[in-house]
Amino acid sequence: MRRLDARAIERELSRLGASLGSPLAVAAETASTNDDARNAAAAGAPHGAAFLADAQTQGRGRGGRSWHSPPGENLYLSVVLRPSLPASSVAPIALVMGLAVASVVERRLASSARLGAPGGDPLAEVRLKWPNDVLVGGRKLAGILVEAQLRGHSVSSVIVGVGLNVHTSRFPPELSARATSLAMLGIDDVPREVLAAELLQALGDAAARFEAGRLSPFAEDLARMDWLRDRRVEVAGVAGVAAGIDAEGHLLVRGGDGVLRAVAAGEVSVTSG
Ligand code: BTN
Repeated sequence: MRRLDARAIERELSRLGASLGSPLAVAAETASTNDDARNAAAAGAPHGAAFLADAQTQGRGRGGRSWHSPPGENLYLSVVLRPSLPASSVAPIALVMGLAVASVVERRLASSARLGAPGGDPLAEVRLKWPNDVLVGGRKLAGILVEAQLRGHSVSSVIVGVGLNVHTSRFPPELSARATSLAMLGIDDVPREVLAAELLQALGDAAARFEAGRLSPFAEDLARMDWLRDRRVEVAGVAGVAAGIDAEGHLLVRGGDGVLRAVAAGEVSVTSG
């Protein structure tokens, strides 16, 4: 197993001019990089502090699920953001972080000779499943866990954790029908250090644009990448057909009664399509 090389990540970060990734901590193993980032933020870590590990023993996903985190194969990365935003505006940053990860994947797929341009091959289509699962060909390539710490009406910190499947070629049986990795998509030649730096650069750019313009700079990409659109869904007690994402980042669902409802949060089950 080749260990993540912190120096190589730092070199890539400075080549890309990334705004996140300083300071940078790379562990051989940790419980959860989100916990590392959250503890560091509580102790005063600055905007941009990043935490990576070669393996997680208690990698966490949304809804209390665990995140498959075998050693040396994938990226497990968390970063501390300190956006200056009112607490009431921070929630949609989760969507924007998903778009940032999707954009890195899309660029990598587009430059892969085997897959060609996105859109040309349905198996290579990068989509965002609301709120922020990154899917390729309908399978999950990356998951994002965003945890905000609020102080009164303002945001103290936002921890963004990204799990990107890079080299895994065989998933445990419960994931094998739903998960994919860059290697399974034919991309096995990009060092994890380069991908980590590209992710940090994209997350930093997206966070800055969100702070300046909330969701409006992302409206086009959100519509283009929306995997749920026109699928039958059930979420937070609402059943119907997914009908896009509104300006607040809520999922729109049109019920059988024709009424459009906006859902702020919840786990989506796709019931057809
Ligand atoms: C999900 O899809 O449910 C979110 C998965 C998030 C996984 C990443 S891996 C790095 C960071 N540390 C964690 O414990 N979770 C996130």
